[in-house]
Amino acid sequence: MKIIYAKDYDDMSKKAAALLAAVVTAKPDCVLGLATGSTPVGLYRELIRGYEEGRLDFSRVRTVNLDEYCGLTADSDQSYVYFMRENLFDHINIDPANTHIPNGANPDAAAECARYDALLDAMPADIQLLGIGNNGHIGFNEPADSFAVGTHQVMLTKSTIDANARFFAKPEDVPRSAYTMGIAGIMRAKKILLVANGVNKAEIIEKVATGPVCPQVPASVLRLHPDVTIVADSSALGCLQKSCPALISEE
Ligand code: F6R
Repeated sequence: MKIIYAKDYDDMSKKAAALLAAVVTAKPDCVLGLATGSTPVGLYRELIRGYEEGRLDFSRVRTVNLDEYCGLTADSDQSYVYFMRENLFDHINIDPANTHIPNGANPDAAAECARYDALLDAMPADIQLLGIGNNGHIGFNEPADSFAVGTHQVMLTKSTIDANARFFAKPEDVPRSAYTMGIAGIMRAKKILLVANGVNKAEIIEKVATGPVCPQVPASVLRLHPDVTIVADSSALGCLQKSCPALISEE
């Protein structure tokens, strides 16, 4: 696991975008595993800039997203499919048919999860982008007694509902469940890139980097993957900088 220091959100977004862009340049028909949330928004802005300046071509790129709320339709402005259009897909030359997100409007969880796992089998990600929850969740793989393997429906924890309430008009509007890629789906990616910013992420980043690998800290499983890079800003690295500065590199 490589941990790269970024001085602030902007620097984190630029450094992480460069790593993702390198994959697109090296393999024009690559599969990008994508995430939503506030952390990757600046990174997506950098990718859009790369496209506008003619440095990046997404015409053959395919994408698989980590997760989607259950019960929201694609036109709901809180759905992750809407988020991806707003923050990336509508601004680059990607073919919408090449973008894949679990269908939160499908009430048949078993069928939807099986459909998504078959898709992931057919097109494993060349690089999977991740954010991280304050409780260590990746995708919506919440702290649990065992690592959930395949795509599954998950009841969101209070910590996640509280953290995501900022995106909704009222906390009661936050959906109570989601479909998420499982840990095996995430770990199958050839490369993993996790981005984190802000002081709220400092404790969890330290735990992920130095604590035990256990399902109570889902992101700790990433230490078992051979090619993981974390790009985090100085605030998110605050605890690690005190306890284990040698783990942090400048580039
Ligand atoms: C989003 C996702 C979540 C977020 C995490 C951090 O697709 O899978 O795991 O990455 O909740 O969210 P932010 O970036 O808003 O702090």
